[in-house]
Amino acid sequence: MIGRLNHVAIAVPDLEAAADQYRNALGANVGPAKDEPDHGVTVIFIELPNTKIELLYPLGDDSPINGFLEKNPAGGIHHICYEVDDIIVARDHLKSTGARVLGNGEPKIGAHGKPVIFLHPKDFNGALVELEQV
Ligand code: CO
Repeated sequence: MIGRLNHVAIAVPDLEAAADQYRNALGANVGPAKDEPDHGVTVIFIELPNTKIELLYPLGDDSPINGFLEKNPAGGIHHICYEVDDIIVARDHLKSTGARVLGNGEPKIGAHGKPVIFLHPKDFNGALVELEQV
């Protein structure tokens, strides 16, 4: 059911420092910072030949990234995103297997303007999984 790895998201304590490191030390193609008020994050996308890296930085006091950075002050991998053809079919199948969908269970429009859902990390070996309809 899942397709390509769309991106790996890394929560970072200093967005500019992380962007500079990917640009200069790793020589990657780093995009501009973009505020996503609906998701409580500022994101920078890094284009790799086979996938993307999404640098996440908190936006606002109730950002979902705040708690993660409190537990991981140096930053860390926050989630991985797999592509699916049909988010509703994927969601309903996952629910039938007992997996928990975060939030109200309805897809939200993600950082790429496409519908996404998140699956409970405790149901996936400790990894927060995002599914994106492409
Ligand atoms: Co993501």
